[in-house]
Amino acid sequence: MTKAIVLAGGRGTRLYPVTRTVSKQLLPVYDKPMIYYPLATLMLAGLREILVISTPSDLPRYRDLLGDGSQWGVHIEHLPQHEPRGLPDAFNVGKGFIGEQSVALILGDNIFFGADFPRMVRNAIAQNPGATVFTHQVREARRFGVMRYQDGKPADIVEKPAVPPSSHAVTGLYVYENDVVQIAASLQPSPRGELEISDVNRRYLREGRLAARFMGRGIAWLDTGTHDSLLEASQFVQTVEHRQGLKIACPEEVAWRMGWIDDGRLAALAHSIGGAYGEYLEELLQAPGAA
Ligand code: DAU
Repeated sequence: MTKAIVLAGGRGTRLYPVTRTVSKQLLPVYDKPMIYYPLATLMLAGLREILVISTPSDLPRYRDLLGDGSQWGVHIEHLPQHEPRGLPDAFNVGKGFIGEQSVALILGDNIFFGADFPRMVRNAIAQNPGATVFTHQVREARRFGVMRYQDGKPADIVEKPAVPPSSHAVTGLYVYENDVVQIAASLQPSPRGELEISDVNRRYLREGRLAARFMGRGIAWLDTGTHDSLLEASQFVQTVEHRQGLKIACPEEVAWRMGWIDDGRLAALAHSIGGAYGEYLEELLQAPGAA
């Protein structure tokens, strides 16, 4: 069973002063905490063994919010990352949790939306040759890890290049075989002082064990790294939810539709949450067909 990690630490300095006293991944994206989005992505891909990593000071708040996951029919563990040493540090922190299994890593500030995406992730897990990354076309590729192609094939991954070799960003969802734990342990920090996920991915690429799956334009990938992109993500979710009357990344709904919690449990959650969110959950029970 593939394990999953949500990385929700870091200093969030790009969003200061907002994130001086609040963890970035707890900020609202429209009507729910940011971390619900990556969590729902994992759940929709069928992943139920989840480790949430955050800073030592924020850990209690994530525990309060998410608990042990049993309310959603999943298993959630919580561990601290003492210093933001870089994304691959998730595998050092999560080594014991991962054990002998393969593992998916998702960044706590990445939002994916698209009908076909859960299936794409499930297929990627089933067919993973070593590592799988998901790329997406963006206007400002220099803000991300970027794929370079040669003869139409992935040839290199460059982290935040001044001159991007393509407009295909490597998004914050990765699937790895278990040897990523050893690879992460052997990494050296980059010139900016961090362990780089692009170094991990480049290693698999060199070994011919990297799959890059391009998300078509029918899938939205939103990041929340700046004040503007955070607001835009909220507006996107608001627009879609208003139009459809269906929520994006509602873990209670996902758990219920996956068959991991029953009607009674959903009704109890609706009652305890209350407000407009609780009402939405109650309405699901009255019109269960509208998926
Ligand atoms: O969003 C996708 C991009 O994420 C990729 O295209 C890049 O290749 C990858 O390096 C990463 O770039 P970012 O500049 O967005 O990474 P950032 O340092 O902002 O960290 C991403 C999230 O992970 C952020 O919400 C904080 C969290 N984090 C980060 C670090 C370095 C941690 O929890 N611990 C850490 O040590």
